[in-house]
Amino acid sequence: MTHPAIKKLLLGITGGIAAYKAAELVRLLVKQGIDVQVVMTTSACQFITPVTLQALSGKPVFTDMWDASIANGMPHIELSRNVDAILIAPASADFLSKLVHGGADDLLSTLCLARDCPLMVAPAMNKQMWENPATQRNIQQLENDDITIFGPGAGEQACGEIGLGRMLEPEQLVKLLSNTLQPKLFAGKHILITAGPTIEAIDPVRGITNFSSGKMGYSIAEVAQAMGAKVTLISGPTALQKPYSTDFIAITSAQEMHGAVMDNIAEQDIFISVAAVADYRPATASAHKLKKTEQAFTLELIPNTDILSEVANLKQPPFCVGFAAESEHLLEFAEQKRQRKKLPLIAANIATEAMGKDNSTLVLLDDNGSHTLPHATKSELARMLLQHIASMLSLHS
Ligand code: CTP
Repeated sequence: MTHPAIKKLLLGITGGIAAYKAAELVRLLVKQGIDVQVVMTTSACQFITPVTLQALSGKPVFTDMWDASIANGMPHIELSRNVDAILIAPASADFLSKLVHGGADDLLSTLCLARDCPLMVAPAMNKQMWENPATQRNIQQLENDDITIFGPGAGEQACGEIGLGRMLEPEQLVKLLSNTLQPKLFAGKHILITAGPTIEAIDPVRGITNFSSGKMGYSIAEVAQAMGAKVTLISGPTALQKPYSTDFIAITSAQEMHGAVMDNIAEQDIFISVAAVADYRPATASAHKLKKTEQAFTLELIPNTDILSEVANLKQPPFCVGFAAESEHLLEFAEQKRQRKKLPLIAANIATEAMGKDNSTLVLLDDNGSHTLPHATKSELARMLLQHIASMLSLHS
């Protein structure tokens, strides 16, 4: 159940307008209990002051190769040896180029060259700079050199242009970072995940839905991706940010989710059905807004297809994992559900303790009985669930 967590991180900040986001990044990392050592280039100091980063990280910020406060006079060695990983965010086009060529003319580039730990970079630049063949060649080379690239994202840029090149948001970087050192248990595997609620339309402005936040499904998608899987996430409406670089299909109703699952199921090795799919939908959805009357109102509901059962009953089904949210008799009801739906594995929880929450508990039920996972964040539970699936499928990294 253990995973290589990053406890000590060296955050390198290079010169670019996205450097202002590094302040929030440091705040979030420190909140996660990560010990953050900030190193800045001279250009980065034009965009944000070392004092800001020092206040947020609670540690002196290094900018200078010749810093006299490091006793042996070798800050590039000293700083890179004491950390589990290095993240450069933002990483400018110039700094990426320097990494490619092994440049070492300032503290940050020198300690990257001298490192013996994983290096991740979050590029941030104007879209033309990102698309330039020189930058694309550099990115390819960095990937060949086992340097992990986070992003960039697309959207409006500081220069007013729109396109690829924005640094990923600090929240996304924190998630990617916490997942990045995962063993690649699912390399080459395709995993389809459903998440969130469905909404069953009554009329154009009303619908029946449930309290699912989508957090568990999205966490599984993020961790599965970090474990090397090719993930497709089919999601009902949620307030969550789309996980970075998964294939994402947005749906609203159970019927749409059913269609999207069946369209994509053929190439899947594993199907994890986390969505809280509505069991019923209105027999007819009114084309126009229903008007109130003085009379009682009765709505006829008809059953939706059970998507998971249909997939599990395919001739050659993928490895199917269900979720059972119950309010009573947890183990008994979940095991009945597992048998009824013909699932090798089901993850059970008490609905009110899980829905919408950041932390939860899961009990895994398979042919060998029940396995209770500890109370943990949904990311941590996702990791444990995926490790359990990998061991059932005898997958090793
Ligand atoms: N599920 C599904 N399609 C449905 C209903 C449920 O794929 N129409 C999946 C869910 O994603 C979950 C599992 O089936 O993985 C169990 O869902 P749940 O709602 O707990 O079970 P139901 O079979 O609907 O039974 P009940 O609501 O009576 O508890």
